[in-house]
Amino acid sequence: SARPYVIDELISAKAIAARIEALCREIHDEFEDTNKLVVVGLLRGSFVFIADLVRELDLPIEVDFLEASSYGDGMESSREVRILKDLRGAIEGRDVLVVEDIVDTGHTLNHVTQLLVSRLPARLKSIALLDKPSRREVDFKADWTGFEIPDEFVVGYGIDFAQRNRNLPFIGKVRFIDSPG
Ligand code: PRP
Ligand code: MN
Ligand code: MG
Repeated sequence: SARPYVIDELISAKAIAARIEALCREIHDEFEDTNKLVVVGLLRGSFVFIADLVRELDLPIEVDFLEASSYGDGMESSREVRILKDLRGAIEGRDVLVVEDIVDTGHTLNHVTQLLVSRLPARLKSIALLDKPSRREVDFKADWTGFEIPDEFVVGYGIDFAQRNRNLPFIGKVRFIDSPG
């Protein structure tokens, strides 16, 4: 972005790790009878969350990825979800957990969920680390949510602003600062 900004910490790495432990206990209860769970990460934003989640999840799993994009480099959703890369494997009759970093307008996860349900998985659940319910444009709620957050532009832990800041170990919020001119 051309506008200067700073990043203020919103959710610490420690708080994220603690929340993931609790979420994994719930996911384990839901899928404890599975013979293999296909954990699907939505690229690119979920890559950090899925890495931490699967290492905390004591279940037989497989990992697959699907790339969906609606924001590009902007701050506004295009509302048009494009599938840039599909899953490698078939999910018919399989147990599936879709992993997402954030549900904002809801278009991305809503669209991907509908697409995957049409492939007739045995069970399909979704988890999002963050949820911004105040921004919702379609009626969608993930089965598990890490944190509900206010309408702030967040970055880090996989989430970008114009492709930057994905590598921050915590969730921060972008605060624009007026340049002195
Ligand atoms: C971001 C984010 C979610 C989606 C949420 O992805 O990672 O996937 O937007 O927004 P929505 O609920 O309004 O659809 P983005 O399109 O920026 O792609 P990226 O994951 O590659 O950054
Ligand atoms: Mn994304
Ligand atoms: Mg993005």
